[in-house]
Amino acid sequence: MSKLTPLRSSITRLTSTRQFPSTRNVIRPLAASLQSHLQTQTRGYKRSPQPMRDVMTGEIIQLPDIDPSLLKISKTTSPKKPLPPSKLVFGKTFTDHMLTINWNSANGWATPEIRPYAPLELDPSSTVFHYAFTLFEGMKAYRQEDGTVRLFRPDMNMARMNRSATRIALPTFDGEALTELIKRLVVLDSEWIPKEKGYSLYIRPTLIGTQNALGVGPSSDAMLFVICSPVGPYYASGFKPVQLLATTKFVRAAPGGTGGYKLGANYAPGVVPQAEAAKEGYSQNLWLLGDEHALTEVGTMNLFVAFKKPDGTVELVTPPLDDVVLPGVTRDSALQLARAHAKGDLVVPGLPEKLVVSERKLIMADLVEAEKNGTLVEVFGTGTAAIVSAVDKIGYEGRDIQIPTGPEGLGNIAKGLLDRIIAIQTGEIEHPWSVIANP
Ligand SMILES: Cc1ncc(COP(=O)(O)O)c(C=O)c1O
Repeated sequence: MSKLTPLRSSITRLTSTRQFPSTRNVIRPLAASLQSHLQTQTRGYKRSPQPMRDVMTGEIIQLPDIDPSLLKISKTTSPKKPLPPSKLVFGKTFTDHMLTINWNSANGWATPEIRPYAPLELDPSSTVFHYAFTLFEGMKAYRQEDGTVRLFRPDMNMARMNRSATRIALPTFDGEALTELIKRLVVLDSEWIPKEKGYSLYIRPTLIGTQNALGVGPSSDAMLFVICSPVGPYYASGFKPVQLLATTKFVRAAPGGTGGYKLGANYAPGVVPQAEAAKEGYSQNLWLLGDEHALTEVGTMNLFVAFKKPDGTVELVTPPLDDVVLPGVTRDSALQLARAHAKGDLVVPGLPEKLVVSERKLIMADLVEAEKNGTLVEVFGTGTAAIVSAVDKIGYEGRDIQIPTGPEGLGNIAKGLLDRIIAIQTGEIEHPWSVIANP
């Protein structure tokens, strides 16, 4: 019950009283003015979001979306001491606060809350535990010397998160509203982002099904939460090319499946193949598909291959987006930068003068032939964590395909894209992809 409810009832009682009919005319205008004053006051109060109803039928026509104006913040009373930057291990340290927003099918999105980082309490029957109703995003925030905190293309992560949600019947939401709340969270915890070059804050928005009942079907309840982990530079001790095992025994994703969505269910099944690759001396799997051994992705990154053509032009190729390839934010950024360079709209140092950029099917036979002809220029993966990761060897059908990586351990194209993307992310180069989080 609101604190204002007793006052409202008194007004109602006064204006309708039969006991003092003579005073009614005096009381009524007074009460009306008090009522209007109260309404003005309540506008400033944070009320729970309400479903929108049809004025005639009373039927719910729209459930409340995420509303950043309702945000409740409860700050921690026992802040943790951040680890020294050199001790940070990817994804093991978390900041003081987290964002949580509950949803249910009757009332839509509830009040967003930023609260102290803490374990979640969930019923053991929650759908997330049984049928993998879980999806996530990975994005980063960067802090500049002057305290400016920047996000990189958050709109892309929000759009992908909503696509993933739709794929497993979890609720969608207003991406701009969630971005707004993420900004509030990262600015609140920005002291956790080490000032040293190359450090950032890894942000993990996650959406889970929390319906307390067994049975496979759309979850009636869900929770969206966002946690943040300070991370160090990926290449602190120099570029380390990775070795891939072109895997034919396992598939990561199949046509009509869920590989193009960032669902939790896509990741656990990749652990055993990765362990098997590691046993054979390779760091990651190169995921293939079909009888032609089409290349799809590498580990949990998108794949790029550069070939030299007879006229000296370099073709930078990445497999096309479909059900089996995740639409990576870094993939899209690399493609846009490379295309702008190829068109002459932009010069990205390190990228070849004569460049063509293609999204097309690639099969292992293309790589084998290019290695034979000496036309294999570079192979690399792209993803939020490392941005780019060079590949120097691919194990395939009992032998290794050798790939040039240059003396630094990172080819010119990968290095050129890495440098440009970092410059944009950190605000060194102003670009609309970099979004300031500070108010
Ligand atoms: C399977 C898979 N492919 C590609 C990527 C790269 O995507 P992004 O560049 O958005 O990080 C990721 C990582 O997020 C991934 O998990």
